[in-house]
Amino acid sequence: MNPLLDQLRAAVGAAYVLVDGDLSAYETDWRQRSKGKSLAVVRPGTTAEVAAVVRLCAGAGTPIVPQGGNTGMVVGSTPDDSGREVVLSLGRLNRVRAMDGGNLTVTVEAGVVLQNLQQQAQDAGFLFPLSLAAEGSCTIGGNLATNAGGTQVLRYGNTRDLCLGLEVVTAQGEVWDGLSGLRKDNTGYDLRDLFIGSEGTLGIITAATMKLYPLPVATLTAWAAVPSMEAAVTLLGLAQHHLGAGLTGFEVMGQFALGLVAKHMPQIRVPLYGQTPYCVLLENSDQESEPHAREQFERLLEAALEDGCATDAVVAENIAQARALWQVRENIPLAQAQEGLNIKHDISIPVSRIPAFCAETDALLQREIAGVRLVNFGHLGDGNLHYNVQAPADGDAPAFLREQEARVNTLVFDQVRKFDGSISAEHGIGTLKVDKLPHYKSAVALGLMRSVKRALDPQNILNPGRVLKL
Ligand code: FAD
Ligand code: MLT
Ligand code: ZN
Repeated sequence: MNPLLDQLRAAVGAAYVLVDGDLSAYETDWRQRSKGKSLAVVRPGTTAEVAAVVRLCAGAGTPIVPQGGNTGMVVGSTPDDSGREVVLSLGRLNRVRAMDGGNLTVTVEAGVVLQNLQQQAQDAGFLFPLSLAAEGSCTIGGNLATNAGGTQVLRYGNTRDLCLGLEVVTAQGEVWDGLSGLRKDNTGYDLRDLFIGSEGTLGIITAATMKLYPLPVATLTAWAAVPSMEAAVTLLGLAQHHLGAGLTGFEVMGQFALGLVAKHMPQIRVPLYGQTPYCVLLENSDQESEPHAREQFERLLEAALEDGCATDAVVAENIAQARALWQVRENIPLAQAQEGLNIKHDISIPVSRIPAFCAETDALLQREIAGVRLVNFGHLGDGNLHYNVQAPADGDAPAFLREQEARVNTLVFDQVRKFDGSISAEHGIGTLKVDKLPHYKSAVALGLMRSVKRALDPQNILNPGRVLKL
């Protein structure tokens, strides 16, 4: 018997050290790309307990895999199959500690589910703008650790931009209280920004102070059929011109991606389906009134139809219709999962170069990968595409991934480099891209990253082998 297990039970309570039974919810990632085996799943209830767990694991030299909602896309929150790693689940740290309406901030624990935070903010008359399809189960800690993006980035920024302060348990089991609600603070290195996006490799985020915004007076959603990616980018420019800061969402969806929703969720109606190669979803958030928002949207769509960058468009009449439009977009990842195994990309390219990137890379993949099925959709307003490849229909999907994933990634990532982009705009590196990162990040940057990792986690016990191999 491993003495660490008894020490962990003493630290957090025996009921919160899971060793037996079905632990697959903690050990398998959302995309079913990896089934691991943990030494134990530990569920502390307070920051002090998290610190105690880290100290015990550090003392035993036992690696720790932090886990929030386990919705990550890159196999970063589940254990490997060694049976040596402890999964540190933050789900019980789920309190909203304080809301300061005057300062437009809220301080929350890491395990708070994103949707609960959105709701609590709204109940208090504020907007917490981070929004993604996994919001019913992903956590603020996970959002910070991955610097999640989502559908409102073009107006409010990504999770990093929404965070003012952090509380972190270090690899030594100390607590750094950096829960500042300040918008300006230049007292030395920005430790907060170091931990955000570090995917659990530098420290355990236990709480955060996040920004709130006034609720918009009216939010309208529209859907447009566009004849090409070039037209989608033209429509984006028009939308920015007509709506300014009111443009809070601009998502593009290829017909094959929409077809997967139509196929796997027949109860969902896909508007303007099949008319054009792409559809676009636009959101306009207005601080004046609904008639004002509608008038602005109508003017924009008239201009787009006249220009030809949209061939047809609908504006949701009410909240139910708006939700139905968002539902189509947000169900694409689930529809992709139901279609079977796939290769996911979350690339970013300067928006102006996206049409040329797609034209070239679509043709390249069609030439090089027999039967390729491209699922292209994403946050065009941020220059971020989910340029995904579904395993061929009626083929052996696991074999396709085994044989073709590295090649598909190289083809796509080389194109990303050619177009001055990034191989990960949202989901991070985890284990799935850890071998690719050194090819696409400069040696100087990697060296600095390794120095930071070694300084903060000299024992290499926090999520080892994820993001960086030392
Ligand atoms: P987990 O999956 O549990 O963990 C993710 C990473 O963070 C792991 O490396 C883990 O070790 C680390 N981690 C988790 N909690 C902590 C903590 N408290 N301290 C330190 N490290 C920690 N992502 C986007 O960016 N944009 C999207 O639009 C988007 N849409 C999605 C849609 C669907 C349907 C799904 C399933 C996922 C989507 N994602 C998206 C990916 C995922 O939801 C995000 O990465 C999310 O931020 C992960 O949160 P989580 O709580 O589930 O974290
Ligand atoms: C999304 O935007 O829906 C997710 O980040 C994407 C994905 O499933 O690739
Ligand atoms: Zn996304």
